[in-house]
Amino acid sequence: MTMHTRTLGSTGPQVSALGLGCMGMSALYGDADRAESIATIHAALEAGVTLLDTGDFYGMGHNELLIGEALRTAPAARREQALVSVKFGALRDPAGGWSGYDGRPAAVKNFAAYSLQRLGVDHIDVYRIARLDPAVPIEETVGAIAELVEKGYVRHVGLSEVGADTIRRAAATAPVSDLQIEYSLISRGIEDEILPTTRELGIGVTAYGVLSRGLISGHFTGDRQLAANDFRAMSPRFQGENLQHNLNLVEALRKIAEQKGASVAQIAIAWVASQGDDIVPLVGARTRERLTESLGALDVTLDAADLAAIEEAVPAGAAAGERYPAAQMAHLEA
Ligand SMILES: NC(=O)c1ccc[n+]([C@@H]2O[C@H](COP(=O)([O-])OP(=O)(O)OC[C@H]3O[C@@H](n4cnc5c(N)ncnc54)[C@H](OP(=O)(O)O)[C@@H]3O)[C@@H](O)[C@H]2O)c1
Repeated sequence: MTMHTRTLGSTGPQVSALGLGCMGMSALYGDADRAESIATIHAALEAGVTLLDTGDFYGMGHNELLIGEALRTAPAARREQALVSVKFGALRDPAGGWSGYDGRPAAVKNFAAYSLQRLGVDHIDVYRIARLDPAVPIEETVGAIAELVEKGYVRHVGLSEVGADTIRRAAATAPVSDLQIEYSLISRGIEDEILPTTRELGIGVTAYGVLSRGLISGHFTGDRQLAANDFRAMSPRFQGENLQHNLNLVEALRKIAEQKGASVAQIAIAWVASQGDDIVPLVGARTRERLTESLGALDVTLDAADLAAIEEAVPAGAAAGERYPAAQMAHLEA
């Protein structure tokens, strides 16, 4: 397999056509295996994946320390190719609770100082606030990242889960490489306004939740027991009738996958990748087995007939349940 590349927006870096999201290696999907997580990052780098995504609040620094260790123990050539995208701003408490977002310029620089230390790097490739801080104009938050760019601590400004107006204001403040936002066959909210806006402004998209957190991976079953520290135990899409409805959509997708000789996860990833060269899917693989499956999506080509069949099986808006619980939906602009 040859790793293809895509460029994040008109000013961003060239990255592998698939990025590795490392969140689940530290938090939000129940316990993960540390050695396997590091082996997965190494295998991804070996396969030519150059984009690693994290957040300083994933396990309160745990994820950055993990990535730092994986980079330190990777062959130098692989380490040098790796680009790290970091989200900041989420405020946590010792019990794991969430208490809002902080996008004040002094906080931005403070968060960055700790991230550089934990990652063991001299710069962060893409830096972004995870959610808009409603108390701080985006110009101030982005302006602070732009200062970090000037000083060499950050290479590119990114955005995460913001709406069209904020994207425009941010882009008027500094060059923005990419917007990170949920996008999948069953989360298509960005298509009407956000994607046209990023395209107009030359901003790329790093799509997360491409497998809807495993829901449309083809591996998730209705009887799976989720730990209390698993986001999916609270996610509306994974509850009761919603779950059954959504798994029925997966079965419709499975028929298409079988005809294509691909897995359901590969079809779901290939679908996102096929929506435009400006989009880089992030996959949340946390084992080498899942990573290998995800990488296989890069060899799946979907033609117009395939895309039409997928659309018929899983039309826009087909999912039951919101993508976050209500309290977290309140932090989303889009
Ligand atoms: N900007 C934001 O607001 C935001 C929000 C969330 C995530 N993110 C970023 O996006 C990344 C990806 O998000 P995500 O982890 O929610 O996305 P995802 O790729 O939709 O879901 C990952 C989960 O799907 C399951 N899965 C089943 N088959 C898989 C396969 N072949 N490959 C990969 N995973 C498979 C795994 O669960 P099991 O291991 O339990 O089977 C895995 O933990 C995160 O790691 C994070 O860096 C950003």
